[in-house]
Amino acid sequence: MTKPTMEDIVSLSKRRGFVFQSSDIYGGLSGFYDYGPLGVELVNNIKKTWWDSVVHARDNIYGIDGAIIQNPLLWQASGHLEGFTDPMVEDVVTHKRYRADQLAGVDSTDLKELKQLLKGKKSPEGNDLSEPRFFNMMMQTWVGPVEDEAAKVYLRPETAGAIFINFLNVRDSMRAKIPFGIAQIGKAFRNEISPRDFIFRVRELEQMEMQYFIRPDDQEESYEEWRKFAWNFLIDKLGIKEVNLSWHEHGESERAHYAKAAHDIYFNFPNGSKELWGTHNRSDFDLSNHSRVSKQDLSYIDEAANTRFIPYVIESSVGVGRLLLAVLTDAFSRDQVDNETRTVLRFKPQIAPYKAAVSPLLKNKPELVKIARGIYQNLQQNLGMVIWDDNGNIGKRYRRQDEIGTPFCITIDFETLDNQSVTLRHRDTTKQTRIAADKLVETLNKELIN
Ligand code: GAP
Repeated sequence: MTKPTMEDIVSLSKRRGFVFQSSDIYGGLSGFYDYGPLGVELVNNIKKTWWDSVVHARDNIYGIDGAIIQNPLLWQASGHLEGFTDPMVEDVVTHKRYRADQLAGVDSTDLKELKQLLKGKKSPEGNDLSEPRFFNMMMQTWVGPVEDEAAKVYLRPETAGAIFINFLNVRDSMRAKIPFGIAQIGKAFRNEISPRDFIFRVRELEQMEMQYFIRPDDQEESYEEWRKFAWNFLIDKLGIKEVNLSWHEHGESERAHYAKAAHDIYFNFPNGSKELWGTHNRSDFDLSNHSRVSKQDLSYIDEAANTRFIPYVIESSVGVGRLLLAVLTDAFSRDQVDNETRTVLRFKPQIAPYKAAVSPLLKNKPELVKIARGIYQNLQQNLGMVIWDDNGNIGKRYRRQDEIGTPFCITIDFETLDNQSVTLRHRDTTKQTRIAADKLVETLNKELIN
């Protein structure tokens, strides 16, 4: 199976209600997207799977939901006001701005190296370029009625900030003992110089992040554990194919200002193999700086060992939209069925937007429709999202469901009237079996657990 192009993914996403360009009717806004009815279901299923694995399945990781806007001192202490930058160059004629590292084709933030590599290069419009310089990606606004320096605040560029400043609150309210973690899912904002590649690089993003607070001595072991967690989660929980994943270790010039070590999982996106999920060793960078700036003691006393230390942090961080793009790309496939090419999204059934589709063979036969409606309502109550589809012939209905990744189609036909059995059709194999209507919930639930 050849990999889908970005155009395949963008067009399916729009046509079938996964992702829309935001402000579409006003010409869009670069770097912003809206999730449609199927996109929001898929995203919610991905988020729930992550939350279940990180928070519910462990007894020492606690969830929070912090504010997007916090006291700006947070971003001074975290180093973002100073260091959350990307190297930028400007087309001297059009004044369009570009990421210097992307134009140079390297993963580097070293201005000297970039200057060297960009010597003699032109902008995509064919004009001369300015020298590379740093550009801060924090988005700002004001709170209160006066738009002055004192009222300036920032939209968070990563969710992690709210986690660090709630370290004491969570530790004390949950009587948490190190090692323990804090997890959060939420929006973050980055004034990306060149948002691009559909939802791969956007200006309003959502992150799923977990910060694990540990003893400094445990940093290597914990780092490996959280790298392994991310890799296994993608394969086992989201059904992503291992061949589409690889590791990338950050070199010194590539690491974020807070990171002592960083490994990304790269995914084979339509636009190339690129960062999907980061694991970072943030050392005691964050809690030390927040202690210093807030003048609050964020050290931890280990009574058993009679020691006091500033906890180290291992961070696991992934963008929800980027993960959605990976899931769509990985699931996208085309094959031949009955001499026709079909597009099928082979989602792991647990995360598919609809778990099943229910159809009466003919929509003008009340006796079939009545039984089908009963089955539909029963599945809705027991499986969650189920779709009713009585439009067009049965082959067309199957293709429509394949294209949105519905793993099971159930058809109620004349044989149902005789023996209460229905046709159960499997998306991936297109195989059809007869099954007793009253065994549907049990059978599908079994398939959805595996
Ligand atoms: N707290 C650490 C942190 O934010 P990051 O590498 O800047 O680290 C983590 O971001 C993850 O967030 C990335 O691996 C990616 O999945 C996602 N991400 C970052 N910037 C993004 C953007 N502009 N658009 C979409 N996703 C983004």
